[in-house]
Order: sequence, then structure tokens, then C-alpha cells
Amino acid sequence: MQTKRWTIQPEKPDYQAIRDAAELLRSGRTVAFPTETVYGLGADATNKAAVSGIFEAKGRPEDNPLIVHVATKERLHGLVSALPPVAEKLLDTLTPGPLTVVLPSNGICAGNVTAGLSTIGVRIPEHPVARELLKACDIPVAAPSANISGKPSPTTADHVWEDLHGKIAGLVDGGPTGVGVESTVVDCTQDIPIVLRPGGITKEQLEATVGSVMVDPALANTTENPKAPGMKYTHYAPEVPMWLVAGTPENIQAVIDTERGPQKRIGVMASTETADKLKADRVIPLGSNLREIAAELYDALRIFKNGDVDLIVCETFPQTDIGQAIMNRLEKAAASYVDNE
Ligand code: TXA
Ligand code: MG
Repeated sequence: MQTKRWTIQPEKPDYQAIRDAAELLRSGRTVAFPTETVYGLGADATNKAAVSGIFEAKGRPEDNPLIVHVATKERLHGLVSALPPVAEKLLDTLTPGPLTVVLPSNGICAGNVTAGLSTIGVRIPEHPVARELLKACDIPVAAPSANISGKPSPTTADHVWEDLHGKIAGLVDGGPTGVGVESTVVDCTQDIPIVLRPGGITKEQLEATVGSVMVDPALANTTENPKAPGMKYTHYAPEVPMWLVAGTPENIQAVIDTERGPQKRIGVMASTETADKLKADRVIPLGSNLREIAAELYDALRIFKNGDVDLIVCETFPQTDIGQAIMNRLEKAAASYVDNE
């Protein structure tokens, strides 16, 4: 399949390109587009065959439900059988933005969107290109991250191209995404909202909006079955093994020095401050604060290729603010964990 690629400046969207991409979506084809978190691979959520195209292109397990994207709260109303006050408050305060609410589905979307669940994850993205595209096609758009299943999510159009060109009908290139980690998924079907996946909206922001918030115990405990079906799969895997190493720059350097040899090249991912102090075969500084680090994370995971380095050593980060999402993704990406503190 030929993949049509459009390049758009997010500040001044090219409406002809948006209309063309919207037309492809309306006709049941798959189109990747930028959101403020990561690129999504979209298809008409009401069209079962179109949604199958997403699972096929990504090689995604069919029991992993998709998030549905809409432009407005009114459109979201059309997909759910109830909108509890707590969900309404979260939506009014924190969206458009990197938040997905899980609500009872009214069955309008195709069965393969929700993987047979009675609930549906819905989100109103903030990225101007996503918003214009959703308004232009005026259908609910199911969109998981636009990567091959198991690989790091795409934060640039080139990441999408690398994984999916030839397998999808279109790609709207709107530049790098911004937040860099996916939306926070919050189950709003109970009285107290439950965080199923940490993401761009922090627990602190949720609590400031609705008071008490719970966290799916499976996030901290690997023996529990997570409530978000997708959280149990291998995710964000770089091409080469990665170790997460806690401790001071000296501790991290000691691990690098022990492992490094003529047959074993070491790549490093760390905050800019730590990276400046480390010596290895390749060192990638991720940024000087957690927001910058989140934005660079997936690109860095994709930079390390087989034949370039043999092991990635990554610093651990504080689990505050967006650090919770960063550490959740890194723990999934890591092959093993060295606690060297
Ligand atoms: O930021 C994002 O959320 C991106 C952009 C493209 O919007 N999308 C994204 O989708 O990350 P995906 O498919 O890669 O991850 C969706 C997550 C999975 O962990 C899935 O299991 C969970 O949301 N999920 C979706 N619907 C659900 C539901 N009804 N109940 C529980 N979890 C659900
Ligand atoms: Mg994903």
C-alpha cells in the first residue's frame, strides 16, 4: 500500500491536506496523525473493518482496546451511556489535553475498538492538527499509538514512517509531538477515579481537580493483572537490552565501567546534568527537567540500534509529576534493574 504523507505547520494548518486526510478516514482507511502526546494511528471507530486495519498494521493483540478520539465533549457524550460528575469535572478542567477517561460504552463504536469490554476509553486531544482533523472528518477516531506493537511510541512523523510506511494509507506530519508520553488513562466508572496508566496529566493534577484518586495496584505490583489490558504486554522495547540504574553519577559510571569492553559498547540515557559526568560509547542527554526528559524519551530509545551499542544504561528519575509516567515506561522498556544506591 502507498502511504500518502502530508507535511503541516501546526500553527497554520493546511486545510486541503486536512480535508484529504479526513476523507481517507471517512472512507475506512488508516491515517497516522500527531497528538500532543504521541502520534496516533487513526481509523473510523464505528467501522469494524477500518478498525481491523489498525490491528493489522501494528501487529497489535486483539484483546487490547483502543482509545477513541473526538473533538468536543458533545461528541464524547454520543459514545457513552453515562457521564458521571467526576468524569465531567475531569473533562471540563483537564481537556482538551493528555487525559483518557474510561466510561460505560453505549455500543456506537465497533466491537473490536473496545475488545469486547462494556467500557470505552475516550479522549479529546489538544494538538491543533488532531483537533482540525477530528472536526473535518466528524467521526469518532479510534487511535492507538502509531508504532509497531511492542516498540517505543512515535513522537515524530519519521518514527511512524520507520514503523508503518507501506502499511497505512496516510501520515500527517505535524512535527514533534510535545508531551512525549501517552495520555493518562483514568477509569471513571467507579465513585473514585482509578489511574490505569500514568501519563501526561499527573496524579497531582487529578487530585487537585476531583480530590481523591486511586491508582491501579497492578502499576506497582507485577503479579496483579492490570485493569488496562494493554499494560500487560511488552512495551517500548529498544532494539538492545536496557538496564535501569539507580544511584549517583559515580555509581552509574561504575556499572558502565564494569560492563564496557571491546565486544560490549555501552549507550547511556540520562538527565543532561548526569550525562555531562558520564563516559560511555554514546551518551544521550535527555534534558534538564522531567518535562524535557519525557519529551525526549522515546526518540532516545529508538536511536540506539543493534550494531551501534550492545547495552543501554539509563538513569532512574524521581517519581513526581510526569516522572511517574517516565518511570512506568522505562521499567517496561528495561530488561533488568540494577539497584546500586
Ligand atoms: O496519548 C495517547 O493516549 C495515545 C494517543 C495516540 O492518543 N494513544 C495511546 O493508545 O497511547 P494505546 O492504544 O497505545 O494505549 C491505550 C491504552 C492501553 O493500555 C489500553 O489497554 C487502555 O488504554 N484502554 C483503552 N480502552 C480501555 C478500556 N475500555 N478499559 C481499560 N483500559 C483501556
Ligand atoms: Mg501504545
